[in-house]
Amino acid sequence: APLQPPAHFALVVRSLPKVTAEDRDKILKDVEYNVFAFPAGLLTCDFLSDSGTSAMTDFQWAAVMRGDESYGRNWGYYCLLEVFRDIFERGSQHQQRAIRDVLAGTVAPMSEADFYRSRLLGLASQRGFVNGGHHQLARPNFFIVPQGRCAETLLFSTMSSLIARERQDPAPRSPVIISNGFFDTTGANAKAAGFELQTFTQPGLTDPFPQDLIGKENNFKGNLDLEATQVFLSNNAGRVSMLLLTITNNWAAAQPVSMTNIRGAASLARTFNIPFFFDACRFAENAYFIQRYEDGYANVDILDIVKEMFSYVDGFTISLKKDGLANMGGVLCFRDEGVFAQRYQGVGMLLKESQIRCYGNDSYGGMSGRDLMAAAAGLYQVTKTSYLANRITQVQHFAERLLAEGIAVLSPPGGHAVYLDMDAYFFGCARKPEDFASAGFTIQLIRDHGIRAAEAGPFGWEYDLKAADDPERAKIPNLVRFAVPRNVYSDEHISYTVAAIKDLHKRRHTDIPNVVITRGKNMRLRHFSAGLK
Ligand code: F0G
Repeated sequence: APLQPPAHFALVVRSLPKVTAEDRDKILKDVEYNVFAFPAGLLTCDFLSDSGTSAMTDFQWAAVMRGDESYGRNWGYYCLLEVFRDIFERGSQHQQRAIRDVLAGTVAPMSEADFYRSRLLGLASQRGFVNGGHHQLARPNFFIVPQGRCAETLLFSTMSSLIARERQDPAPRSPVIISNGFFDTTGANAKAAGFELQTFTQPGLTDPFPQDLIGKENNFKGNLDLEATQVFLSNNAGRVSMLLLTITNNWAAAQPVSMTNIRGAASLARTFNIPFFFDACRFAENAYFIQRYEDGYANVDILDIVKEMFSYVDGFTISLKKDGLANMGGVLCFRDEGVFAQRYQGVGMLLKESQIRCYGNDSYGGMSGRDLMAAAAGLYQVTKTSYLANRITQVQHFAERLLAEGIAVLSPPGGHAVYLDMDAYFFGCARKPEDFASAGFTIQLIRDHGIRAAEAGPFGWEYDLKAADDPERAKIPNLVRFAVPRNVYSDEHISYTVAAIKDLHKRRHTDIPNVVITRGKNMRLRHFSAGLK
């Protein structure tokens, strides 16, 4: 990776407690060796998730102090709506400076009072992802929720009830959502609402990539397979309710999606008149990959890349716990005059009703006013090139150092995580998928070194519950994910983790246990709650 100057320094620090392997051993036994249940306060490094785990910036903390907790229309509500217009809609950059200053509470060319006076009424005719003035009441299209999966629940359940209402056929086939990769809650929510899922990921995801190209090239392995999508659409267009592109593609090892692919997907959606959405959790990381690796974008500003990406979609869901740099929050929004709004007439009012029923009044949707401020400020921080370069380079360094130690990782690494290739890790050990040795590795890594990672292999993907002749069983990868929290860890933590992974690799024949599921083998999402031995 290229030489990268530091992009931040620590302002507040928390000390790590001294914990011994024996302490951790006792606790592991007590939590039935379920790594999700291991107390975070006893860990040295926690790579379980990049979600909600970010360290916030001083700018965000300043914004938090300027939030308020009014029940109707708190200040954070207006800030978040403004930031969404500013970042995701074309032709709205002009507000950026003013709202940033109001957010930060520094120099204020536009005070809150000025904002209410001039901007609110000025927005009366605004239509887009975030309708303004009266339109947000009469034609709501922007919904705040506590986190990403709540946006998914609202979206899919409402679509499903609208589809059911219009149906004539007494024995209809399930409606379909097509994606380049569904995150597990996204897929579960779509299925629970009655949708059939079709995943068309670009072939070659697990093909090896030359190590010396990391940081120089990227082949956008998160792309949608456009050909397979086209074939499916040609044969089933009437059944397809949505095309959903996940950026970056968390299901496909955090790999990015290229602008060319986004454009191609948009064009297919338009041809078949199908709503096109993003699962936009890591939109800024995706934009950075485009700037750095896609032809024609090297000199385009991140915010302009983001605006182009979002110009192609009819709407999106987003968890603000990732590229909102916030600890909570989510949003669902859709273009007031897009294909989605046309196809699902009246959807906004139905969504609003569910939002209020499940999460609260539209101006907070289950979030505190201060958390809204943190997310509004975070969306600006996360779209800065210096931040993104630091972030992505840290993940690339992590992968490069593992490779240099002879540890195989999926390469090139994606945006927010490094994935160990556990078949290669256990080379020569004769471990079978049903031994769950990769889960054993995550347990041993906590016990010996106080580092938490997540198995994404035979245990998580339920190898043992699938029939031997099920083609899905053969496709189950054998990976362990190290998701890197934003702005939290330094080089020191990465070096320690690389050394720990190497240490266990040397002892892999003797010191990494196989795992038996003692409780909850058949539970849905069992990795959160099963007991192990
Ligand atoms: N979509 C994607 C692509 C995600 O990665 C996640 C969460 C969600 C939706 C759901 O958002 O957690 O706010 O409800 N991913 C986290 C992870 C949990 O660790 O990958 P949420």
